[in-house]
Amino acid sequence: MPVLHAKPAPPSDDKRWKIVETRMRRMGDRPYALIEALHAAQEAFGYLDESALNYVGDTLGVPHSRVYGVATFYSYFTLKPQGEHTCVVCTGTACYINGAKDILAGIERELGVKPKQTTPDGKLSILTARCLGACSLAPAVIVDGAVMGKIGAADLVAQLEAM
Ligand code: FES
Repeated sequence: MPVLHAKPAPPSDDKRWKIVETRMRRMGDRPYALIEALHAAQEAFGYLDESALNYVGDTLGVPHSRVYGVATFYSYFTLKPQGEHTCVVCTGTACYINGAKDILAGIERELGVKPKQTTPDGKLSILTARCLGACSLAPAVIVDGAVMGKIGAADLVAQLEAM
């Protein structure tokens, strides 16, 4: 059966859209390819932004509301870009009682970003974790993969600002 809606052009000429386009075409550009297509887009780009969601929806003839519904329902899908740098703040018990709360408050106050958010300039994403397995270093954080322990809020904020 022919597809009745017009196929939109990819959001940019980034070659990765070809992968997404091919995956959708293989499934006949039909609405049931939605999850498969979102997977393909996330694999290619690391996250789903508005242009990706709209492109997939328009190609498959799925209303945007439904595309957003599916993309936000499954925790596997990430709708925001990860920042250039990542800071994971441990909020496990040992870290919490040793200052994780102050660290998160300091980050929010000075950098304007809460857990699971990325600064507007895309530089820094803040995440939290429950025990990083480094309790003797409490409060512990991981900045770009490196564990830092016994760190105070002001010191950490200064380091994050300098990145
Ligand atoms: S509670 Fe933070 S490292 Fe264990």
